Amino acid sequence: MGFKIGCIPGDGIGPEIVREARKVLDAVGKKYGHEFEFTEIDMGGCSIDKYGVPLTDEAIEKAKASDAVLMGSIGGNTSTSPWYKLPPEKRPEAGLLKIRKSLGLFANLRPSYLYEELKDACPLRAEVAEAGFDMLIMRELTGGLYFGERYTKEVDGVMTAVDTLSYNENEIRRIAVKAFEIAGKRRKKVISIDKANVLDSSRLWRKVVNEVAENYPDIELEHMLVDNAAMQLVKNPAQFDVVLTENMFGDILSDEAAEISGSIGMLSSASLNETKFGLYEPSGGSAPDIAGKNIANPIATILSAAMMLRFTFDLDKEADAIENAVREVLKAGIRTGDIMSDGCRRVSTSEMGDEIVNRI
Ligand code: IPM
Ligand code: MG
Repeated sequence: MGFKIGCIPGDGIGPEIVREARKVLDAVGKKYGHEFEFTEIDMGGCSIDKYGVPLTDEAIEKAKASDAVLMGSIGGNTSTSPWYKLPPEKRPEAGLLKIRKSLGLFANLRPSYLYEELKDACPLRAEVAEAGFDMLIMRELTGGLYFGERYTKEVDGVMTAVDTLSYNENEIRRIAVKAFEIAGKRRKKVISIDKANVLDSSRLWRKVVNEVAENYPDIELEHMLVDNAAMQLVKNPAQFDVVLTENMFGDILSDEAAEISGSIGMLSSASLNETKFGLYEPSGGSAPDIAGKNIANPIATILSAAMMLRFTFDLDKEADAIENAVREVLKAGIRTGDIMSDGCRRVSTSEMGDEIVNRI
């Protein structure tokens, strides 16, 4: 079958890691008889350099015309790159936020799993790593602080900056439903994160999540304050199955969840709307310090491509093939620098891609 994939290499390590994911998809296509047709889409700093804006209307149209979008990463060094001298709405990240909003990608799934083989790369205490963990962060992606009203102005002679955290019950309900639905296919437990001891938005969050939970009597629900969640993630990550969270808390907790799995280079992600369409990207950033060196870890992007096969194209067998190939490579002791440990063989970005392709 033929599938149309929009491809956003982006900035920094983006083009290198996307290249490897495409290689893997091509190998899957060849083996299982699918045609993956890629259309390049500019977004982020590279789009600013070409068109003066991080995402053009044509780019959005191209994304909408695709069955799914595979993305690398966008942005540069926020202290030194000229992109960050531009007004905020012209900076690389604005392109990412715009594509999420324009395509209605409200559900961001970030699985974090500790591979047996990566226990040495896990920064947690040995007995915690030994217990392992397997969680899915369900992050709300088109609301909250990221999209609320913001401004900086002088108030009574004092410069003041305001960001607004707002959620309505519908936005909370639809992401909660996604979390409960997916929990039903996993270990049947949702831990919902909020700051209900301080924030109104969190109190509404908790109320709506409780209402949604009534429709899922077989799923256990626990509410956890975000500061406690940050602590529990390093203390006892095994307790988490589905972690339901608003946008900003999810941004922060997902980096933490990634790091405890060995490296941010391992964390894939899917951003979905109400249809089968999805934007698939690694959770990590553009890592400008290592860009162009062929040393970045492409596994998160490759696993994001596997999520694309599973969620958008319903190609479970093919997705399994990618995930198994990744596991085989790790078993064989093949590592990029970020997950390197004693006795393993260190490979480059493109070699990692080749090793995974060889096991498809
Ligand atoms: C992420 C990133 C983005 C976010 C940035 C690049 C805007 O950190 O996908 O987690 O904050 O959502
Ligand atoms: Mg982030």
